[in-house]
Amino acid sequence: MPRTDIEQISTLLPAWVESSKKQCIHGKTASYIPELSKAPIEALGIHLIDSNGHSISAGDSELAFTMQSISKVFTLILALMDNGEEVVFDKVGMEPTGDNFNSMLKLELVQPGIPFNPLINAGAIAISSLIAGKDANEKSQRVLRFIQLLSNNSSLSCDLDVYRSESATANLNRSMAYFLKDNGVLQGQVEDVLDVYFRHCSISVTCADLAQMALVLAHNGTNPLTGDKLIPRRYVQIAKTFMTTCGMYNASGEFAIQVGLPAKSGVAGGILTMVPGRYGIGLIGPSLNRKGNSIAGVNLLQTMSQQFDWSLF
Ligand code: DON
Repeated sequence: MPRTDIEQISTLLPAWVESSKKQCIHGKTASYIPELSKAPIEALGIHLIDSNGHSISAGDSELAFTMQSISKVFTLILALMDNGEEVVFDKVGMEPTGDNFNSMLKLELVQPGIPFNPLINAGAIAISSLIAGKDANEKSQRVLRFIQLLSNNSSLSCDLDVYRSESATANLNRSMAYFLKDNGVLQGQVEDVLDVYFRHCSISVTCADLAQMALVLAHNGTNPLTGDKLIPRRYVQIAKTFMTTCGMYNASGEFAIQVGLPAKSGVAGGILTMVPGRYGIGLIGPSLNRKGNSIAGVNLLQTMSQQFDWSLF
């Protein structure tokens, strides 16, 4: 793989962002969480940071947005740190589904009735119930503090408008959670588990925050800027594998072929990805394709990966 340096990227990036922005008109903002439909549909921004802390950004990189499903990577890691692999994988599986992220189809079709993986909604709700803490508030605080630590940004907080908007309209997630409770997958009260889940999905970030978190994953759990070991290497390996096989939902296979990097998307339009050992990347583009991934964001990452030969495969 030829080396690309950050100056080279910064020369080319603004034009690529402008070109990928043209894709925005072909997608839609998420509307099933009403507050998310207010996001600027034409926006596209990116931030990239290297192992020495040099960073570049382009487009609407200052836009604040909620992590949504990107937070599932970090609740998975925290649940693994709290419980170990055996307990976690007794409650969620390790396989892609090929279904939409909010599908509950296979929960009833396939025994033992545990969610297929921790990145679909059903799996992430199961993971929320495995976060240590005496009540929903303490669990949510632990998730927030973990994400603050990884992003090196102690001012991150939950966007309460998005949280309330999701909580008030989450009939599908609620039905899934009650189903999981009946199947013996969820610990504790269903509404408490859902509260932890809605709150972590609503943590508000910018591209720079995602890039910083991605940089830690790109360095197998160590922040290369401080030398702090924040996550055991094995759990980063598990998280990056799920990002590769399930991180872009039922477009993960296509993304692996077109971009070839571990990544996780969210319905607010964020994408967290990385070039292992080299770059952490955070991106926002609220216009989504039919699979729920940022339409312009995927296009931009495809251009970058192909131009710089970043694919791992
Ligand atoms: O539970 C939900 O539907 C949202 N809070 C998160 C879904 C999501 O981000 C799917 N991503 N592509």
